[in-house]
Amino acid sequence: MLRSAVLLGMCLLLWGFAPGVAAQERFVAIPAAEQVARMGTGVNILGYDPYWREGGQGNYREEHFKAIHDAGFRTVRVVLFTFRHLDAGGTLDPAWLEKLDWVVAMGRKHGLVVILDVHDFDDCAKDMANCAPRLEQVWSQLAARYADQPASLVFELLNEPHGQLDAAAWNALFPRLLKVVRASNPTRNVVVGPVNWNNFRALEQLELPADDRHLIVTFHYYEPFDFTHQGASWVEEQFSRLKDVPFGTPEQVAQVGRDFDAVKAWSLAHDRPILLGEFGAYDKAPMDSRVRWTATVARAAEARGFARLYWQFSSDFLLYDFGRQAWVEPILRAVLPDSPELER
Ligand code: BGC
Repeated sequence: MLRSAVLLGMCLLLWGFAPGVAAQERFVAIPAAEQVARMGTGVNILGYDPYWREGGQGNYREEHFKAIHDAGFRTVRVVLFTFRHLDAGGTLDPAWLEKLDWVVAMGRKHGLVVILDVHDFDDCAKDMANCAPRLEQVWSQLAARYADQPASLVFELLNEPHGQLDAAAWNALFPRLLKVVRASNPTRNVVVGPVNWNNFRALEQLELPADDRHLIVTFHYYEPFDFTHQGASWVEEQFSRLKDVPFGTPEQVAQVGRDFDAVKAWSLAHDRPILLGEFGAYDKAPMDSRVRWTATVARAAEARGFARLYWQFSSDFLLYDFGRQAWVEPILRAVLPDSPELER
């Protein structure tokens, strides 16, 4: 009797059922809608940080993952520029992958859903023929490497398809990438969005495979663009030269509601859960309007059951200031009004 109990115990341990360890270690598929509910509010991280550069020290430490969690965020979307880490044979740099392992481990340790977002979108917009095989190489390696991670790890095939990636091209390409992912991750939740920089007006053109139920549909929201991108150097001059553009008339607020209603209607009609993967207003916008816009958009997403990820933790659109090692409180309050961080 005792012997069989010991044997059973050993088997359970081998199968990873040790208390406190096992349940989290193993991949157990969860419905896409449940995944979105678990994502709650989150934030984009790491894309432009020196962390990724060879020899780069970087700003992100474990304490920042803990701070993100403790402030009430439940998801980090890790912005990855992958192509520059592929060698001529299409293999990802092992040193870069180890850095990514650390990020995945930190997210997991601190109870965060981690989205791996392939962000080589500009390269793909300019040269689709060159991009497609590279995306397949990237996804076959990332998917295989993380196939055993729990369901809290999510893959996003490509940020903001645009340019050469028009609806026809994207509807042909993304199923190829999905197939690569599904070879090693048949039921992991995967994020995919429409063309035109993940614009919600292009949702109708997105052709999803009906039999894949582990898809989360994403859109990005930066409207009105002349408000959110005023003074931004990387956009057309008509926006980059703007300043002091306010936000907050009743009509502007109502428009956000109508846009989000349209996304909700699409979501219900197509039975797909929604992730608002990016929203934010650039630092050069007046702070009171940034706060109003950010709160308006965050509440609109919450009210409709969309997970929502602020753009971004660091670099610009700042939510967190590495210089002061402190939250940008007005923005944190707009994104997460009940954040315990605000009560300190
Ligand atoms: C781009 C960033 C840009 C942001 C807002 C992101 O998808 O990667 O470069 O700052 O959108 O424009």
